[in-house]
Formats: sequence, structure tokens, C-alpha cells
Amino acid sequence: MAVIETKDLTKVFGKIVAVDRISFTVEEGEIFGFLGPNGAGKTTTINMLTTLMNPTEGTAKIFGMDVVKDANKVRNVIGLVPQDLTVDEDLTGMENMELQASLYHVPKDIAKKRIDEVLSLVELKEAAKRKVETYSGGMRKRLEIAQGLIHHPKLLFLDEPTLGLDVQTRTVIWDYIKKLKEEHEMTIFMTTHYMEEADALCDRIAIIDYGKIKVSGKPKELKDNLGGDIIELALPYNSRDITEAIATIPYVLDVKRKSETYRIKVAKGEEALPDIIERILKMNLKVSKVSLTKPTLDQVYLEYTGRSLRETEGSREEVWRARRNIRRLRR
Ligand SMILES: Nc1ncnc2c1ncn2[C@@H]1O[C@H](COP(=O)(O)OP(=O)(O)OP(=O)(O)O)[C@@H](O)[C@H]1O
Ligand SMILES: [Mg+2]
Repeated sequence: MAVIETKDLTKVFGKIVAVDRISFTVEEGEIFGFLGPNGAGKTTTINMLTTLMNPTEGTAKIFGMDVVKDANKVRNVIGLVPQDLTVDEDLTGMENMELQASLYHVPKDIAKKRIDEVLSLVELKEAAKRKVETYSGGMRKRLEIAQGLIHHPKLLFLDEPTLGLDVQTRTVIWDYIKKLKEEHEMTIFMTTHYMEEADALCDRIAIIDYGKIKVSGKPKELKDNLGGDIIELALPYNSRDITEAIATIPYVLDVKRKSETYRIKVAKGEEALPDIIERILKMNLKVSKVSLTKPTLDQVYLEYTGRSLRETEGSREEVWRARRNIRRLRR
């Protein structure tokens, strides 16, 4: 049975179709990534899947249970780490955890053990006695992940788990996410706009834009489907034009020349590269520079949405910081 199964899931806000007839399934034990720019409909999808919002149209099932009709049952088996900061800064890490445990009706004696367990998972046991206002951004996020785990969910939703965190902290969070999947056999649905994050973590991804799923699949397959690696090589100044000779080499799909530099699209980069170099040497020419580039998810994204996701990154981080500062000022 699929852990998540949606059919034509749709959410309309007035004139905005935030989520537009999306259908997908997530299998047990998978890390499934929802990738898309600001306003693509990622959080709205999570809100519907976690019973916080009813769909306008279509259906979603979690472990076979309908998110509208069986909302209470669904809530028992899912955990959610929302996009916005939810921890209370005036409380300690421990107090935040206790609050969460009582919200989820975890009995007191069990709660103590569970809190211990999840706090050590995210390595916050030491800091648990401190007020959250003294925590770094990464520590706050780890506390939120711990909160999402308090009732031992089988399915965890992570909405932008690393937004606004520095690169090192991000990779630490990645390790926790991997650990949850591997050691705790959890299914994870996450959203992100970091391509390398989706690539490193997700078994499968869906690229969502304007509420629609543009493409979905395993990151590797999506990259492979772009059709080829790029070899760039340069010959010494004033070498003769060998475009045609290169074009006849097996694996070569396309060659473009710009003075002495050739941009060669090939099917299998590792296999094609030695062959190409050997042939050039046989022509009594020298190679002065060479590089092999594999397609990235960035290029996949570009292919399916016609724009680069990077363009939106800076502004998002600013928004996140601004939000945090406003919270601080309010106090
Ligand atoms: N409660 C709401 N009322 C009206 N419009 C909404 C509401 N929630 C979301 N929207 C709109 O729906 C669209 C999708 O928003 P959503 O938050 O799902 O996007 P997102 O992919 O999570 O974006 P981000 O990357 O910024 O988190 C946006 O146009 C947003 O303005
Ligand atoms: Mg969002």
C-alpha cells in the first residue's frame, strides 16, 4: 500500500489555483522531495496532506486513510515540521518538548523516555535546559524536528527543513534525515528549493511549478533523461578545426566549436572521454584543457520550468531572516 496517494488534489484560494490537480504516490520507506520556487504550492500541498486544510477538489490518502474523512486517524500516524518557526523562544528546549508531548497526548511516563530519545537523536540533550532564545538557527530547526517525532510518526513531513541555514548546518540536518529513514524506517515527504539537497537526500522528486507537477522520478533518471554529459576541451591556439572528426566518434551527440574550444555532448561521459582524447592525439594535436560535466538537477529544473531556481534563493533567505528578527523585536 502506498503511504501517500493523491488524485487530482486541488486547492483554490479565490482566483489563485495554488495546487492544480496533482496526482502522485509515495511508497513506504521513501524520501520524497517536492521541489519548486516560491508560491509553487508546496506548503499548501503539505497543509492538505497533514489535514490542516481541506482540498477544494480531489483526494489524498495517507496509509489508505482519507485526509478529510479520517483526519483524526491520519494525524496519529504523521509528524509535521512546518516551514515557519514554531518553537517558543521563552521556554527551554525541554519545556518545548514537554509541551509538544502533551499536545499529542503522549502519557507522561512514556513522554520522558521519548523526549530523551529524540533529543539525543538531534544531539540537543546538553542544550535542553537552555532557553531557546539562546539557540542558533540550526539548533532551533533540530528542536523542531525532534518535536515532529515525539509521537513516533510513521510518516514525517518536513517543509523546507534547511531554509536559511548555512551549508555546514544543512548537511548536519541531512544526516538526521537519512538516519530517520535508515534506522527508524520512516517515510519522509519533504519540500525544498535547494537542488543539491534534493539530489543528495531524495529517492524520488517531483518538480512543482504554478501548482502543477511538471515532472517526477528518481534524481538520477531525471538527469540521465536530459540526454548526455558535456565534455569541454580546448586545443592549443591556432589548431585546425576538428569539429567533423569529433562528430563521427561514437557516443558523440553534438559538437559546438568556439575558436579552439569544443563543447561536446556525449551519451556516457566517462566512456567517451578517453576515446575522444585518444583520437585527438592520433591526429597529432595536443589537448590544452578538458572538463567533464554531468547534468545537475538545476538543469533538469531549467528544462522543465524554463527558469533557474537559484534566482529565487537570495530573496527567500532574506524573508526568513526578516521574520526571525521581527519575532525577536516583538518580545
Ligand atoms: N491561506 C491562503 N490564502 C490565500 N492564498 C494562499 C494561502 N496560502 C497560500 N496561498 C497562495 O497559494 C500559492 C501557493 O503557496 P504555497 O505557500 O503553497 O507555496 P510554496 O511552494 O510553499 O512557496 P514557498 O516556497 O514560498 O514556501 C501562492 O500563490 C500563495 O500566495
Ligand atoms: Mg512553502
